[in-house]
Amino acid sequence: MSTAKLIYEGKEYEFPVVEGSEGEKGLVIGDLRAKTGLITLDPGYGNTGSCQSSICFIDGEKGILRYRGYPIEQVAERGRFTEVCYLLIYGKRPSVDELRAFREKMNRHTLLHEDMKKFYEGYPPGAHPMAIMAAMVASLSSFYPETPETLDTNIVRILAKSKTLAAFAYKKSVGQPMVYPHNSLSWPANFLRMMFAVPAEDYEVNPVLEEALNLLLILHADHEQNCSTSTMRMVGSSEANLFASISAAICGLWGPLHGGANQSVIEMLEAIIADGGDYKRFIDRVKSGESHIRLMGFGHRVYKNFDPRAKLLKQTCDRVFAKLGINDPLLELAKNIEEHALRDEYFVKRKLYPNVDFYSGIIYRAMGIPTEMFTVMFTLGRLPGWIAHWMEQRRDKESRIHRPRQIYTGETIREFEDRGTKQLPTGR
Ligand code: CMC
Repeated sequence: MSTAKLIYEGKEYEFPVVEGSEGEKGLVIGDLRAKTGLITLDPGYGNTGSCQSSICFIDGEKGILRYRGYPIEQVAERGRFTEVCYLLIYGKRPSVDELRAFREKMNRHTLLHEDMKKFYEGYPPGAHPMAIMAAMVASLSSFYPETPETLDTNIVRILAKSKTLAAFAYKKSVGQPMVYPHNSLSWPANFLRMMFAVPAEDYEVNPVLEEALNLLLILHADHEQNCSTSTMRMVGSSEANLFASISAAICGLWGPLHGGANQSVIEMLEAIIADGGDYKRFIDRVKSGESHIRLMGFGHRVYKNFDPRAKLLKQTCDRVFAKLGINDPLLELAKNIEEHALRDEYFVKRKLYPNVDFYSGIIYRAMGIPTEMFTVMFTLGRLPGWIAHWMEQRRDKESRIHRPRQIYTGETIREFEDRGTKQLPTGR
């Protein structure tokens, strides 16, 4: 094992360097403070590895993403979402029989407990579906307590029920009756039916949309130590149960810099159109730094060349639109923005490329999914990744509760003077 030396205040310290299976190297500093009195300071954790993991590999410089070693392009083209769930969580691609058994097991758990339906009644009209999802998933822990014996079933439960929870949240928002799952359908088709079927009317799932949703779910399934997955691991490190940890991860995903970006992209494109469609003027405003406006759906902490998911999604947009024979001015606008930004020095210099959220919303729109549901769609896709990381952490003998340190910059010690009780405002 190679080592690296640190010289501090004239003394030399040696630390081991670990190497991952793809040649990534990391300095092991577990005893840094004990040896030197120092901690590392890395706001945003851009240079901090929080764990060793064998689930997902990203090479941001080359635009590579692999799930358990399989290139995302192949998984997206040939895989089914339930197969990817199995692959990520259990670490191997299921055989046909294993996949069949897994699907059958999942199909036994798609229903929600009838008492949970009452929870939906308490939300105000216009409640954001991410708020509903986070609360509903946390609530599952009150119906299905976690024990070593129930954990495996709880994994299947959340994968199966998540689509029902999400579709019910949508039905609540439009004031329609909830549609129960139909378990002869695939995971994506079952979800689309629960979203868009209405009682007493026939509903046929459009295979183009089923296929597109399968791809979208797969492309979102894992992305190593991003904000929500790190939240999942952070909360999981306290040995919080699976549902509680997922609920926290959902909240981590919600923000516009992470999964909420897909909603923000559409809102941005709509605002540009409402403002006359002058995207070049909008890009100039972004570049000027005015009001900290960002080009939503652009940029990534890890990808500095291109995001392979965005590439696949752009192709999917074209395919879905051609097959459905529809036109969306937002797609043309997004393409113009991409073309313009990729030639603009500001974006080139900072290595800012379209990310997964840039085109995904345009496909969701074509499916009829409302903008506020977009981040819920991301949640549904990311679930297997979160679960895989949570399980990996549980099995990792070196895992400890996550507890970073800080460099304190506040007041040094001072006296909290005794004012006497007379000076205090009455009634407090
Ligand atoms: N538009 C304009 N400028 C940007 C953008 C953007 N979208 N993203 C980064 N920059 C600039 C930023 O202002 C900074 O410039 P300067 O060096 O002059 O100060 C430089 O690029 C580096 O940015 P950063 O904020 O230090 O980069 P980061 O790695 O901390 O942030 C990011 C990554 C994804 C949060 C950021 O690129 C961003 O805010 N993008 C827009 C939101 C978005 O699309 N998020 C989805 C991310 S991908 C899917 C997911 O994870 O959910």
